Amino acid sequence: MYRTHTCGELNTSFTQKEVKLAGWVAKRRDHGGVIFIDLRDQYGITQVVFNPEYHTPCYEQAKSLRSEYVIQVTGLVHERPEDRHNEKLATGDIEVMVHELNVLNISQTPPFEMDDAITVNDEIRLKYRYLDLRRTKLHNDIRVRGRVTSAVRYYMEKEGFTEIETPVLMKSTPEGARDFLVPSRNFPGRFYALPQSPQTYKQLLMVSGFDKYFQIVKCFRDEDLRKDRQPEFTQIDIEMSFVDEDDVMNVASGLTAHLFKEILGVELETPFPRLSYKDAMETYGTDKPDRRFELTLKNVSAVFAETGFNAFKGVLENGGHIAMLVLPAQYNYTRKQIDQLVDYAKKYGAKGLAYSKVAGEGLQTGIAKFLSESEQKSLIEQFHLKENDLLFFIADTYDITYNALGAVRLKLGEDLNLIDKNKHDLFWVVDFPLLEYNPDEKRYVARHHPFTSPKADQMEQLDEHPDKALARAYDLVWNGNEIAGGSIRIHRNDIQQKMFNVLNISEEEAEAKFGFLLDALKYGAPPHGGIAFGLDRLVMLLTGNESIRDVIAFPKTSSGLSLMDNAPSEVDEAQLKELHIRLRR
Ligand code: AMO
Ligand code: AMP
Repeated sequence: MYRTHTCGELNTSFTQKEVKLAGWVAKRRDHGGVIFIDLRDQYGITQVVFNPEYHTPCYEQAKSLRSEYVIQVTGLVHERPEDRHNEKLATGDIEVMVHELNVLNISQTPPFEMDDAITVNDEIRLKYRYLDLRRTKLHNDIRVRGRVTSAVRYYMEKEGFTEIETPVLMKSTPEGARDFLVPSRNFPGRFYALPQSPQTYKQLLMVSGFDKYFQIVKCFRDEDLRKDRQPEFTQIDIEMSFVDEDDVMNVASGLTAHLFKEILGVELETPFPRLSYKDAMETYGTDKPDRRFELTLKNVSAVFAETGFNAFKGVLENGGHIAMLVLPAQYNYTRKQIDQLVDYAKKYGAKGLAYSKVAGEGLQTGIAKFLSESEQKSLIEQFHLKENDLLFFIADTYDITYNALGAVRLKLGEDLNLIDKNKHDLFWVVDFPLLEYNPDEKRYVARHHPFTSPKADQMEQLDEHPDKALARAYDLVWNGNEIAGGSIRIHRNDIQQKMFNVLNISEEEAEAKFGFLLDALKYGAPPHGGIAFGLDRLVMLLTGNESIRDVIAFPKTSSGLSLMDNAPSEVDEAQLKELHIRLRR
């Protein structure tokens, strides 16, 4: 037996008992001829003491101990002297006087100290991820992730869902992002793809009569990464038959509330409020608003209907929008900060970020000189502006105007510390457009995925104004993060065909790419729908982290590298040959 107890459990009730502990040397202090070691394992830290007066050979042996050595000690539990209790430590009332020391393994000097208080360069952390994972916060967050997946399974099983695994080697079916491909040895020139999600499989499972499916599943997308995106990530994937939007949203909010209770001890109120896509965009400038602070956008296009200001006039003539953001006078924002904000808005495609300030009956500075007296007055009256309010404007296409001003809003929220970090704001975004126009491909593409059903009354729109048709889709947003998204699916072959038509996917192409799904829809597919949570994002938020990397045991860098094992790496010529691949160099 390596140990009788862990390093996190001893207290004064064990006084004078002999115990055996095993763990890592976290810290070593020599005090007046006595060696103190902080012995660490997953459960905590216990101070173990090598005192020459208590046991001379062990004291001599302990002189060789270094950071991260793995040791086993046997000793007696002592209550610490009155003035040396450590309240920060669960075991801080005791120490172990060692009379037997066993060095189980030595360690090279580690590249960094396993101490949360020390800032370590990200690249080094990732290269030595196995050491980084010894650090308390990261270590505990990974364990919380384990608790989250257990809680998910508990809840879903209780609700009657069956966990079913789906293939990881599948057919390449364009779904939005780029596929990762896997060459086939047996079939020269043919490739498997790694699933971007199990979307088609879970729909097929509904055709097979599995009423309620779920899976905790890896998904793979070869897309540009950000702090909330990894090339491989995990979804809590859900699909149900004979359901409408409310049924799926109820399960998803029930699951979310269960996780809040289990992990955070917080009771959430359900159902969560709902916000339409249009309101989200025009009020917050994003389809995943952070509503923990008040600043909101205003559509001011009407005020400028007759404007003589060329920058605004041209935009309105081309069907664009003008939106305004008001920073109330109480906040100080310097000229320099404004200039930086202008550059920031431009990163989001805006041609400019105009600003001005309320002064008396009108506006002063910035674009004031371009605006007529009546325009200035209208703004002040319609939007109840006050003296010294700072106004920002963007005029552009709908998407650029709101996206860019939404980004400005978020930046102001962060710069001015407006975000109430204690708030949990969870709500649904609904009434999404079904399609969006892709100017590069010169065709409409599905906003969510091509299997999402249009709303029943939108079939005509789909023919006449495809961009205006609404989808039976919903996203769950928590504090400005999209944590889940799903939809009611198309379950009829003819409508799915029509959808491919609208997407400008020819019958042959649809047959080649999605033939199996179209076929399945011919054999009595039930009405069905579902949703998928981004598990990484969910755990990131549950653990108060800002990057999903901090809740993934072995994450990749933002360029998709694994710094620890150097994947992706080159492979042998022989391996390539077997796969019928020749590299172009
Ligand atoms: P969607 O593409 O919206 O839907 O993905 C669902 C959720 O997965 C998370 N997510 C990611 N997390 C980390 N890294 C990524 N690269 C990444 N991409 C997505 C998000 C997102 O809300 N099959 C559909 C679901 C359905 O319709 O049922 C799907 O995959 O939190
Ligand atoms: P201009 O007449 O182009 O010099 O623009 C005058 C002011 O309006 C400058 O402060 C620009 O940054 C701003 N501006 C120009 N175009 C836009 C636009 N599309 N949206 C918001 N502000 C703009």
